[in-house]
Amino acid sequence: MERTFCMLKPGVLQRRIVGDVLTRIERKGLRVCAIKLMQIPRALCEQHYAEHEGRPFFPSLIEYMVSGPVIAMVIEGHDAISTLRALCGPTNPAEASPGTIRGDYGVVTQKNIIHASDGPESAAREIDLFFDAAEIVEYADGNQSWIG
Ligand code: CMP
Repeated sequence: MERTFCMLKPGVLQRRIVGDVLTRIERKGLRVCAIKLMQIPRALCEQHYAEHEGRPFFPSLIEYMVSGPVIAMVIEGHDAISTLRALCGPTNPAEASPGTIRGDYGVVTQKNIIHASDGPESAAREIDLFFDAAEIVEYADGNQSWIG
């Protein structure tokens, strides 16, 4: 079992596609173990995307990410990091195949619907940035033996 950080970006709530995106994650066999609806404070957003600081798109990325509410989550499951990245598709929705979340719901790179950690270190760092340990819920479910 592995955990990863996932964020539904501004616009997803307004477009009322939260359920559609979450269904894809759940249907695959991953599960939510922490979730919160929030407006990201600018400083937290800049910390989250610190690796992109200095890139030409950084200022507009931050403006966009603080422009509306997001849904931050911890997602758990077998190979959760790579599985969730595969469900999302490539960063640029124009290159994402239909059937992936970005391929089905977005058209431009900046507004690519969903963020998912790209490796174990970023998953741990990002989970820690957005959640206290007490907000991550451990629970058993009868489905796991059928999934992986
Ligand atoms: P995400 O997976 O959240 O990680 C970094 C984000 O920066 C990425 O999704 C995009 O939203 C954004 N991004 C990356 N490259 C570009 C780009 N060339 N132009 C605009 N936004 C970008």
